[in-house]
Amino acid sequence: MIHITRRETFNAAHQLYNPKWSAEKNREIFGLCSNIHGHNWELFVTVKGEIEEETGFVMDLKDLSQIMKKEIVNKVDHTFLNKDVDFLRGKLPSTEVFAVEIWKILQPIIPNFCKGTLHSIKLVETANHYVEYFGK
Ligand code: NI
Repeated sequence: MIHITRRETFNAAHQLYNPKWSAEKNREIFGLCSNIHGHNWELFVTVKGEIEEETGFVMDLKDLSQIMKKEIVNKVDHTFLNKDVDFLRGKLPSTEVFAVEIWKILQPIIPNFCKGTLHSIKLVETANHYVEYFGK
């Protein structure tokens, strides 16, 4: 068993704001993040599996890159995550929620391209913090 990872980047804005709460409570809980603000996000997708004898690959990284772009990056790049993205509609797009939704999209697709399976989603919001999700 070996793990491979592909990184893709995008820019998107979000706002940590719970519409069920007052503006004051949103400011208290989320601080400056209750304002609309943008990030240069980094998405790391890790696939695990056995090495294929004929290619030496777990998965062709060109395929993984294309899947990440088609399914995620092209849908979120230069958007406002709270309003513009179908798969986040009605959700509060914290980095945690965003990572889980990315997992739900990619997890069923990866096995169509290789014998491996999705291992983790790592979503970097700033240089100082990121979220990792392993499917449970
Ligand atoms: Ni943020």
